[in-house]
Amino acid sequence: MDMEAGAPLDTRGRHLRDLRISVTDRCNLRCGYCMPADIFGPGYRFLPRSELLNYDEITRLARVFAGIGVRKVRLTGGEPLLRRDLWRLVEKLRAVPGIEDIALTTNGLLLPDQARALKRAGLNRVTISLDSLDDVVFGRMNGQGVGVATVLKAIRCAQEEGFSPLKLNMVVQRGINDHEIEPMAEHWRGTDVIVRFIEFMDVGNTNGWRMESVVSAREILSRLEARWPLESVEPNYPGEVARRWRYRDGKGEVGIISSVTNTFCGDCTRARLSAKGELYTCLFASRGHDLRALVRGGLDDAALSREITALWRARDDRYSELRAGQTTPPPKPEMSYLGG
Ligand code: GTP
Ligand code: 5AD
Ligand code: SF4
Ligand code: SF4
Repeated sequence: MDMEAGAPLDTRGRHLRDLRISVTDRCNLRCGYCMPADIFGPGYRFLPRSELLNYDEITRLARVFAGIGVRKVRLTGGEPLLRRDLWRLVEKLRAVPGIEDIALTTNGLLLPDQARALKRAGLNRVTISLDSLDDVVFGRMNGQGVGVATVLKAIRCAQEEGFSPLKLNMVVQRGINDHEIEPMAEHWRGTDVIVRFIEFMDVGNTNGWRMESVVSAREILSRLEARWPLESVEPNYPGEVARRWRYRDGKGEVGIISSVTNTFCGDCTRARLSAKGELYTCLFASRGHDLRALVRGGLDDAALSREITALWRARDDRYSELRAGQTTPPPKPEMSYLGG
């Protein structure tokens, strides 16, 4: 099937390759950098179920996206495993021509019960969030007092189901968990787990982001190198978000994601679909485009494809590159709503 011929480029010459689908805006944790508990409290109004795209609607959109270049799908949230029988969505996506890679980003809490069904349905990869190996630090960061053992168990289950290599995401915040960089690396060295250290980003409007809280990729790298010499590894694919580094003694690899200090908008091929079916052409876009209205309004696939192609062609986002020059940042969607 020749899908390249009609594949649209945006105004900066970037393809559309990667679709990140948020399946719910809810989460069972309250990480301060994402859904701080004082804002996402008991009175917070999450989307009612009728507002969410159903699995058939998501699959239909994914098929249209695949027709214009998408090869990789990542399911996110909120916490995607809160959505009932997520494996059913994976199974449907698996059958979409063109989609080669289906990945999941999860906090792991519900993974032990679901890992097998997800694997059987055709999920290729799992990334689990883990910000600290210290119960006190982790419990405070996740806002719910959840212990490290719960996530370690999820990691084991994922490995047992054959999700390997497994990636871990650690968002580093100065004064909160940056003392955990070396212990985290040490713990997973020599295993098939790839830890990715992520610069704390100014996503959303509620996480109290300040530049002083960011530990730069350069600092993370030099702290790791001081203990274990590293060498750079070629990206797995053009535009990969994480820079890869390998331990020179052969004990595996780590990734560092420098979304703040060394931006990667230049080859950003990612589109995001919110839980209620809006297309965001950037993690920081101030608004999305309502695809749900088009889907529910009876547009056929060809017409949907034309609409999405036009939106992609018009895209000129590069928020992270512009961030430095801004004095008053514009309102941004919350990451829990839009998906990481
Ligand atoms: P692979 O498919 O394994 O390469 O995964 P990925 O790098 O896409 O992984 P993941 O979704 O886990 O992304 C890791 C983190 O990188 C996210 O949680 C964000 O913090 C950050 N990130 C991912 N995509 C973008 C992006 O488009 N822009 C910015 N600024 N940050 C991003
Ligand atoms: N900065 C960086 N990454 C974030 N994530 C959520 N909020 C932030 C933030 N402020 C990412 C983490 C987590 C995933 C679900 O979203 O990588 O693992
Ligand atoms: Fe939930 Fe993940 Fe956000 Fe933490 S980072 S609140 S686990 S969606
Ligand atoms: Fe892509 Fe926007 Fe992230 Fe830049 S800031 S890498 S354009 S999603």
